[in-house]
Amino acid sequence: MQTITLNDGNKIPSVGFGVFLIPANGPTYDAVRTALKAGYRHIDTAAAYFNEADVGRAVRDSGIPREEIFITSKLWLQDYGYEAAKKGLETSLDKLGLDYVDLYLLHQPYGDVAGAWKALEEAKAAGKIKSIGVSNMTPKIWKEFVPQFETLPAVNQVECNPFFQQRELRELLAGDDVKIEAYQPLGHGDASLLSHPAITKLAEKYGKNAGQVILRFEVQDGLIVLPKSTNPERIAGNLDIFDFALTEDEMDALRALDTGKGHHDPEAPGVAEMLLQNYKIHD
Ligand code: A2P
Repeated sequence: MQTITLNDGNKIPSVGFGVFLIPANGPTYDAVRTALKAGYRHIDTAAAYFNEADVGRAVRDSGIPREEIFITSKLWLQDYGYEAAKKGLETSLDKLGLDYVDLYLLHQPYGDVAGAWKALEEAKAAGKIKSIGVSNMTPKIWKEFVPQFETLPAVNQVECNPFFQQRELRELLAGDDVKIEAYQPLGHGDASLLSHPAITKLAEKYGKNAGQVILRFEVQDGLIVLPKSTNPERIAGNLDIFDFALTEDEMDALRALDTGKGHHDPEAPGVAEMLLQNYKIHD
């Protein structure tokens, strides 16, 4: 399993299994069990995915030692602010059935972000979290919040795929050795991406599928990727990207697919209210 060293010295597997939108009470459990059997050692969940309990149960039932699996969860907006964040983390640990998580993120950059971050810093010092990070921070949002933090985030998890490569953000974060985690690295299954000739041509050359070419491109370009699938063949395939390498010309050809635009705009007016309305993890 290829790993990347974070700016706090911890190591993270460069391919993780994402479980956003996989239902709780069964499907997430099955998918995570399949992923662990296929060799994944990195699972990415969140309080607002409503499936932390399934993830925890699948990890325990796998029989794989806890320290061999990298587990990420995320604090939801409803639990921002210093005191609420401490409780939110405890609820995540409780649902996961774990005494620590490897990475815990501020899922969204709104509200009392600095207060919530302070709670994460303390939980890291107490050993309840190994690494702390943020998510959905654009360059502008990063510059607004991160100077208020005592500890630099280890990662920023953002939407990232060949059509939206986050070049400005990557340049900004590289200076501080903050790693980008790509969510929806396959463009959320976007057919125009998966069937793009620049990608299918390489798939044919290397005897891989389009998804594998995309993930290989991203990992080779220094990203941590979190592909999601509920199909056992694709779950296994998405990890099978370490037996080939793209040439520099091929990397450049895929870098040229960037449009600079994604689906989710964290700076859009009303986005925090919309998220709070759509994802209620408790009353
Ligand atoms: P499925 O669960 O049927 O495999 P993302 O991780 O970017 O959000 O993309 C997830 C979507 O892409 C899901 O709809 C998933 O469907 C599909 N998918 C996952 N892996 C692949 C792959 N290797 N090739 C094509 N589609 C894939």
